[in-house]
Amino acid sequence: MMILLTSLPYVFVVLLYCIAISMANDTLVPLQSVTYNNTLVSSQSRFKLGMYCPVDITKCYLSIWFNQVPQRYPVWIANRDRPLSETSSSLAIASDGNLVLVNETGTVFWSSNVRNLSSRGTVAQLLDTGNLVLWDNKGGNRLWESFDHPSHVLIAGMKLGMDLRTGMSRNLTSWRTSEDPSPGEYNFAFQLIQGVAQAKMWKGSSGHFRSGVWNGEDLGGLNLKADLPMIQELVVNPEEVYYRFQNKDNSSWIMLSVDYSGQGRFLQYDHNSNDLRLLRAVPQDDCGLYEFCGPNSICSISEGRVCSCFDGYTPNNTKDWDIRIWSGGCARKTPFSCPHGDGFKAIQGLKFPDLLNISVNSSMSLDACRAECLNNCNCTAYTNKDVTDGGHGCILWFGDLVDVRTLSEVGNQKLYVRVLASELGTKKKNKTALIVLAIIASVLLIGAAMFFICKRRSHRKGEEQSNYFRAEEDLGVPSFEFATLVKATENFSLMNKIGEGGFGSVFKGSLSTGQEIAVKRLSKDSLQGLEELKNEVMLIAKLQHRSLVKLLGYSIQGEERILIYEYMRNGSLDSYIFGGLNDHKRQMLIWEKRFSIITGIARGILYLHQDSRLRIIHRDLKASNVLLDCELNPKISDFGMARMFREDQLAARTRRVVGTYGYMAPEYAIRGVVSTKSDVYSFGVLVLEIISGKRISHFHRQENDFSLVGHAWDLWLNGKASELIDPLIEGSIPIAEVIRCIQVGLLCVQQRPEDRSPISSILRMLESEDALLPQPKRPGFHAEKWFNNDTEYLSDEIRLTHSEEAGNLIQGR
Ligand SMILES: *[C@@H]1O[C@H](CO)[C@@H](O)[C@H](O)[C@H]1NC(C)=O
Ligand SMILES: *[C@@H]1O[C@H](CO)[C@@H](O)[C@H](O)[C@H]1NC(C)=O
Ligand SMILES: *[C@@H]1O[C@H](CO)[C@@H](O)[C@H](O)[C@H]1NC(C)=O
Ligand SMILES: *[C@@H]1O[C@H](CO)[C@@H](O)[C@H](O)[C@H]1NC(C)=O
Ligand SMILES: *[C@@H]1O[C@H](CO)[C@@H](O)[C@H](O)[C@H]1NC(C)=O
Ligand SMILES: *[C@@H]1O[C@H](CO)[C@@H](O)[C@H](O)[C@H]1NC(C)=O
Ligand SMILES: *[C@@H]1O[C@H](CO)[C@@H](O)[C@H](O)[C@H]1NC(C)=O
Ligand SMILES: *[C@@H]1O[C@H](CO)[C@@H](O)[C@H](O)[C@H]1NC(C)=O
Ligand SMILES: *[C@@H]1O[C@H](CO)[C@@H](O)[C@H](O)[C@H]1NC(C)=O
Ligand SMILES: *[C@@H]1O[C@H](CO)[C@@H](O)[C@H](O)[C@H]1NC(C)=O
Repeated sequence: MMILLTSLPYVFVVLLYCIAISMANDTLVPLQSVTYNNTLVSSQSRFKLGMYCPVDITKCYLSIWFNQVPQRYPVWIANRDRPLSETSSSLAIASDGNLVLVNETGTVFWSSNVRNLSSRGTVAQLLDTGNLVLWDNKGGNRLWESFDHPSHVLIAGMKLGMDLRTGMSRNLTSWRTSEDPSPGEYNFAFQLIQGVAQAKMWKGSSGHFRSGVWNGEDLGGLNLKADLPMIQELVVNPEEVYYRFQNKDNSSWIMLSVDYSGQGRFLQYDHNSNDLRLLRAVPQDDCGLYEFCGPNSICSISEGRVCSCFDGYTPNNTKDWDIRIWSGGCARKTPFSCPHGDGFKAIQGLKFPDLLNISVNSSMSLDACRAECLNNCNCTAYTNKDVTDGGHGCILWFGDLVDVRTLSEVGNQKLYVRVLASELGTKKKNKTALIVLAIIASVLLIGAAMFFICKRRSHRKGEEQSNYFRAEEDLGVPSFEFATLVKATENFSLMNKIGEGGFGSVFKGSLSTGQEIAVKRLSKDSLQGLEELKNEVMLIAKLQHRSLVKLLGYSIQGEERILIYEYMRNGSLDSYIFGGLNDHKRQMLIWEKRFSIITGIARGILYLHQDSRLRIIHRDLKASNVLLDCELNPKISDFGMARMFREDQLAARTRRVVGTYGYMAPEYAIRGVVSTKSDVYSFGVLVLEIISGKRISHFHRQENDFSLVGHAWDLWLNGKASELIDPLIEGSIPIAEVIRCIQVGLLCVQQRPEDRSPISSILRMLESEDALLPQPKRPGFHAEKWFNNDTEYLSDEIRLTHSEEAGNLIQGR
């Protein structure tokens, strides 16, 4: 009896266990949970649901990812705003039937949040499509599904659009940064305006990209019928508006993702390269950026980047327009003579204007549409609403025509733009219209080319005359024609973009000789002004060292400022050391490689500080400024902030403090004192990052650990330095060598610049195993409170400007 009673609970547990076992692995039933050591796997093993921890295991997200791909690419994330620690996470079915993600003490981090659940016996199932569904156990109804709540990715079968019956919008929101899945600035959604559909990407509340207008066949030249590994469709009916794609082959892994920089990318996992392949991207070029040309103009990429006004319109600000500032757009030269004396000019091959102020009639003929537009003096353009079945319906645009571009895939549909009859010319539509069009097009092309050549000539002249511009030969490297770079980068196609930062963008290019180049195109509002550009060009042109990236040339034209470097196939160091926990690039960096990168960087700095004919302070050493060649040798880049010193000069004070938060030595950040020792400090930070795989900026002010430097110091003091080592370093680790590197890193980041050794000694300490190393003193690391009010932080690549008493400002040479 006794035995029976005491064993009863066990019987119960075993029973429950049996129930759990007999359930399929794709289903979660009440009393079960998904924790860090188990997952749900869909029936054909295509998708997996579990915890995803991109940076460290204290910040994890409930996610779904492709199960048959080695890397973990999350396609859905639940608790984007509220990450939790992996070990305390648990997904379960709450007593009210909702799906909830809780921690050990029961705090709810995410919930499916279905109100008024009628049934309690709900179960959750991960379907083979990647959809997580909450079922009503009795009726078999879907109570909730993850496909209704997309995060940043659309996969096959998911809808992007609106349910007009319920008002539900299914849209995509970018991540905040490449490593932070919390909702970022960009949102990609469908709009339905008076029954007309278009897709739009928002950056906050302003436009960033727009697809063009759905005409029953295509979406502004996006060519949904393009030959791609997926079948795309757009459905507009009284109940729903949505875009969706299906994979042509069920063994392909395709996703449409909105990345943190506002690009919508179709990516396909490629088994051969074990990486994602870009199928297509929007916006695909500058003309894809919303309203790039300002109102009443056409953006055209056929001949470099150029905006032109609609006929009858002139640039709103001619001066700006001449120096390629397009955003002011165009305005009417002379008002329309409405209600009599106006006509329309038909233009083919355009993405139609944004649906800002339109009027739509679904049955009207094109002729009636024309008459309607002619009758309303505010009507500036019209076209058919739908091109299927010979065309029907009418869209009228009022006021400015915004965000129009030429399309590479020219459809038949025309936009009829209002002009004065006198601006129309005498040409009449006839059978030879096509030929005439062709002639006009070629004339336009030649005209545009000539316009370009003339512009370039006149610009060059202007620049040579102005005294702020230096003659080319002085800069030490050749100047490139802008047109050459347009061609090399396929018009700065976003497909070729390899990097982005506060300064602008970097594109991969290929010269007609086949040589690969990296083209750094500085943004207009970049902090790197003409002064810094010239500085960088002159500096690097003189520098030759295997640890420094080689400058091949530059280009300055109008507003364009461009630097051309040798192309580094492996990108920058940060993309290696800061990869996620599952990142193969990070795992590839075995200790020997990391060590040789550390010493390579030190040699590059040594050359800058001592061995070149000049004394050069880099001022902005950081992981993203170290590039890796094909053998993963480091090359220091980005000399925009560098300053040259007389050889006998040891330190200087500068009025303008530029650099990156976290990497800046305290005396530099606070008092503007710059010396070789401030570079040594940044190098020390880099060493600690390379060893730990942690970003200096990733430490948030938790207790005393407000910086990687502080964290390393704490571990050092407590004799636990080895805990700093990146857990992803594979292979055997020569622990003494790593500890020596940590010690050297700490010696570099000491508070007082005079305590830090010069880089030559640092290099010796790194390279000789029996060098006697001093004990590091307290490091200098800055907490926010050290800064006063005239300090400002900018964007995520935080740069600092700081006004101090003007010291001994050194401006190069
Ligand atoms: C669940 O997964 C385990 C191990 O992965 C496997 O042995 C078992 O057969 C699976 N059960 C079902 C019902 O698929
Ligand atoms: C999962 O972790 C829990 C809690 O640590 C433990 O009790 C359980 O045995 C683990 N299950 C497996 C399959 O490892
Ligand atoms: C659960 O989360 C709450 C809120 O963040 C927190 O206060 C609590 O300490 C957490 N419990 C555990 C065990 O981490
Ligand atoms: C909740 O569900 C009940 C029964 O299904 C229904 O009668 C009631 O209207 C619902 N309440 C709300 C607020 O939806
Ligand atoms: C995106 O979807 C969310 C949730 O349905 C909704 O609140 C938001 O308004 C939508 N955004 C846009 C731009 O449609
Ligand atoms: C792909 O899988 C879906 C669902 O499993 C199936 O309906 C479809 O027929 C498959 N398509 C191909 C081409 O195999
Ligand atoms: C043209 O510029 C003026 C002044 O800058 C501005 O007020 C006006 O709105 C602009 N017109 C257009 C069409 O952008
Ligand atoms: C649309 O146009 C047709 C034909 O011109 C007209 O009969 C109808 O009233 C219009 N519909 C609306 C909603 O204006
Ligand atoms: C034209 O637009 C102006 C200002 O937007 C408005 O005041 C006027 O009533 C409009 N005229 C017509 C015919 O709609
Ligand atoms: C849209 O155009 C109409 C007709 O010209 C005009 O009356 C109205 O003010 C405009 N509305 C907006 C929001 O611009």
